[in-house]
Amino acid sequence: MRERRRVEETIRAMRRAGACRLQVISDFDMTLSRFAHNGRRVPTTHNILDNRLLINEECTKKMKELLNTYYPIEIDASRSAKEKLPFMVEWWTKVHELLIEQRIRKDMLAQAVKESRTMLRDGYKVFFDGLHESQVPLLIFSAGVGDVLEEVIRQNGVFHSNVHVISNYMDFDHAGVLRAFKGQLIHTFNKREGAVTQAAGLAQLHGRPNVLLLGDSLGDLTMADGVSDPHHVLTVGFLNDQVEERKELYMNAFDIVLVRDETMDVPNAILRNITSSGRLEVKA
Ligand code: TMP
Ligand code: MG
Repeated sequence: MRERRRVEETIRAMRRAGACRLQVISDFDMTLSRFAHNGRRVPTTHNILDNRLLINEECTKKMKELLNTYYPIEIDASRSAKEKLPFMVEWWTKVHELLIEQRIRKDMLAQAVKESRTMLRDGYKVFFDGLHESQVPLLIFSAGVGDVLEEVIRQNGVFHSNVHVISNYMDFDHAGVLRAFKGQLIHTFNKREGAVTQAAGLAQLHGRPNVLLLGDSLGDLTMADGVSDPHHVLTVGFLNDQVEERKELYMNAFDIVLVRDETMDVPNAILRNITSSGRLEVKA
């Protein structure tokens, strides 16, 4: 934390306002899902699709090459978001074209998720269940693949009624074969546009000016830009990779930075603090 006192004051103000004034906005890949497990990378929603049920070897190879080219640019501490933006559009566009060529079948997605090594962060159940119990809406704002993301949280038993997802959704033809991606492309550095055009319209989030924002990319910081008249926004950044190179940037950008922390312990503690007191106030 760069400004511990600001963090404490923000949490106190959010607790006074209570759970009924709160919303949580979170990124998905490498924020709600783990970055690594036992020293191996955990797949992102795009990489869960790397399964012979869905794509061939040639496509796997091309997607890996693209990842090796563009991921280092995505996390490069020496380039600005503006400089990275055209590369991200290129990456996502190329990958989505490859996926469409593979004629991916909708009815195979659940099996691919089951067979993947995807994992949510430790403590995910407390996080999702707690928000549901406190009736706090959770907006998952992801540049990943929405259909895959939904399947991951469904299979983990936490796709509750308070969860809303904004992401890249697949468009299947009448036979259930992928033919396109729906709507405006979301990549890591254009989340602001999605926030203003899509998140702002979600009625379930209206009247909730306090925001807990969770992300692993500096681009995630714009996910709350659609909130009208925000009162208190607390941002938590998971710094998973290139830690030494990016620590200062992250410390200057997020209120709280979690370094190589594969758990939801800190967000859970903050939420427990904000929402439990809310309940006591109601009782009193
Ligand atoms: P997020 O917004 O849910 O974090 O999803 C975006 C992440 O997905 C971003 O960090 C880059 C990653 N990604 C892949 O791992 N493979 C891909 O093919 C693409 C296009 C993105
Ligand atoms: Mg992410």
